[in-house]
Amino acid sequence: MGIPGWLEETRRLVDGWIEADLPLASARTGSVEEAMRYSLLANGKRLRPQLVLAGGLYVGRSIEDVREPALAVEYLHTYSLIHDDLPAMDNDDWRRGKPTSHRVFGEAMAILAGDALLTEAFSKMADPQLTERFDVDRILKALWVLAQASGRHGLIQGQVDDLASEGQSLELSSLSAVHRNKTGALIVACLRIPAILVGDQEAERRLGEFGNHLGLAFQIVDDILNEIGDARKMGKATGTDRLLEKATYPHLMGMGHARELALQHRALAHEALGGGDEAAILRGLIDFTVDRQW
Ligand code: IPE
Ligand code: IPE
Ligand code: MG
Ligand code: MG
Repeated sequence: MGIPGWLEETRRLVDGWIEADLPLASARTGSVEEAMRYSLLANGKRLRPQLVLAGGLYVGRSIEDVREPALAVEYLHTYSLIHDDLPAMDNDDWRRGKPTSHRVFGEAMAILAGDALLTEAFSKMADPQLTERFDVDRILKALWVLAQASGRHGLIQGQVDDLASEGQSLELSSLSAVHRNKTGALIVACLRIPAILVGDQEAERRLGEFGNHLGLAFQIVDDILNEIGDARKMGKATGTDRLLEKATYPHLMGMGHARELALQHRALAHEALGGGDEAAILRGLIDFTVDRQW
C-alpha cells in the first residue's frame, strides 16, 4: 500500500477507535460527551495518532499495540484546538470544516470539553490494557514525556508566547522557539512514545530528532497555508495570522524563504531516520506534511 492509502486507512481506523470509545449513545444533547465528539469526529488529519502508529511500526510493534497512546495524543491535540479557538485566544469561528466548539456549545462547554479531552488523554495513557503489552515503568516514562510536552515546558508555554508575540517582530530563533513549543513538542512526544514503550533508546533518539524537524516543517507549512491556503479545503479561516499580527515564518522571512526552510527541515528529517525499510511510512509522513494543502 502506498502512503496515501496508509494515511486514509489509519485515519479511518482512528475514527473507528474514537467512535468506539465515545459512542453516540453516550452523547445525549447538552452533555460534555456531545461536545467532545463534535470536535473529535470532525475532519482532522489525524497526523499525531498516525505518528504514534508509524513510530510503533518503526520499533517493530503492531498498530493495535499503540492504540491507547494514539488516542491520547489525538484527544490532547483536539483539546488544544478547542481552547486555541476561544475568543480569549485566537477567536476563530471555523475548525475542521465546522463552526468552532464555543460557537455551537458556548464558551463554558467548550472549555469543559477541552478539559475533559485533556484529562481523558492521560487516562488513556494509564489504561490498564496498556500494561498487558508494556512494562509499567516504561508506560510511566511515556506518560511523563507527554505531560512535559503538553504543559508549561511545551505546548502551554508555546501558546503563551504565541499570544505574547502578537504585534511583535521576533527574531528567527525566538520564533522557532515558540513553534517548537506550541506545535513541535507534542509531535516529538508522539514519536518518542512508541520507542519509550519498547525501551529502545537509539530509536527514541532518532525519532525525537526526526520529530523535531517534522514539527518545525509542519508549523512553517501551517503558517504558509494561513496566508495562501484554501480555507474550504483546510476547514478553517485563512488570513487570520496577519489580522492578529502573529509572528509567523512568511511574515518574518517571506514566502519563498519560509518554503525553503520547510524543505530544509524535510531533508534533515529524512537524514535523522536513515534509509531503512522500517522508516518508509515516516518518510512518507514528512513528505505529506510539507506538500499538504490542508
Ligand atoms: C492545527 O493542527 C494546529 C497546529 C498545531 C498548527 P492540524 O493541522 O494537525 O489540525 P487537524 O488535526 O488536522 O485538525
Ligand atoms: C495552534 O496553533 C497550536 C495549538 C493549538 C497548540 P495555531 O493557532 O497557529 O493553529 P491554527 O492555525 O489555529 O490551526
Ligand atoms: Mg493559536
Ligand atoms: Mg489558532
